[in-house]
Amino acid sequence: MTVHFIGAGPGAADLLTLRGRDLIAASPVCIYAGSLIPAAVLDHCPPGARIVNSAPLDLDAIMAEIMAAHNIGRDVARLHSGDLSVWSAMGEQIRRLRALDIPFTVTPGVPAFAAAAAALECELTLPGLAQSLVLTRTPGRASSMPDGESLALFAATGATLAIHLSIHNLAQVVADLSAAYGADCPVAVVWRASWPDQRIVHATLATIEAAVASSMERTAVILVGRVLAPGDFGESSLYAAGYDRRFRPRNAASLFAGPSE
Ligand SMILES: C[S@@+](CC[C@H](N)C(=O)[O-])C[C@H]1O[C@@H](n2cnc3c(N)ncnc32)[C@H](O)[C@@H]1O
Repeated sequence: MTVHFIGAGPGAADLLTLRGRDLIAASPVCIYAGSLIPAAVLDHCPPGARIVNSAPLDLDAIMAEIMAAHNIGRDVARLHSGDLSVWSAMGEQIRRLRALDIPFTVTPGVPAFAAAAAALECELTLPGLAQSLVLTRTPGRASSMPDGESLALFAATGATLAIHLSIHNLAQVVADLSAAYGADCPVAVVWRASWPDQRIVHATLATIEAAVASSMERTAVILVGRVLAPGDFGESSLYAAGYDRRFRPRNAASLFAGPSE
């Protein structure tokens, strides 16, 4: 018996990996993380599967579901939204599984920030503008931020920011970022990226609060940075005609010319 942690993607049912789909189809038990998992993903469960919404359960109750499946030798597909590497609560479940010696696998998924960037048709790392992306959040009712992870400190880097779990804190986000990024810095809020009712608001730090007003709740990513409205920017070296590289040696004198291993 194995517990398969599967990143179920940002919402669109076809943004699930093939591996994730096949593991769901092969698992007689599916525990899924509430309303962020689309019903069409659950359609991959085999006929007669036990399908459990984990939203109203605490960790002990989730582990009880897993133990019940374990005791009768049934694999479990454990679905979380987006990818498992950020804000999935997978870590605490894995810790318990390890203590119980229950095998598990981890299958990545498309994260919300990537679906939001796709919706914006935007590369978040453009030469000369930003070469780093910070995935972060603001403090919540249940989660404080570690010292040193404040928005103001991240802002000092000038990196592109993808701020999660924070649409209700938009005023604070604007207050924390305006000094470093400037009031004219582009901001985009993508609500329910990849869902049929996806919405996008483009604005600046000065105008984003009024633009969003209270029209978006909960499932939104706030993207901040010059890459969102780049104007003129440099091209990367990767495809530059004059750039000498292993897969495209410039001439016979190239470091990379000659027989490859
Ligand atoms: C508990 S976190 C889950 C993050 C997820 N594990 C991931 O990889 O993106 C939930 C937050 O992710 C963001 N989120 C998740 N799905 C989203 C979507 N389809 N569109 C926009 N934001 C989304 C929102 O900021 C939401 O508050």
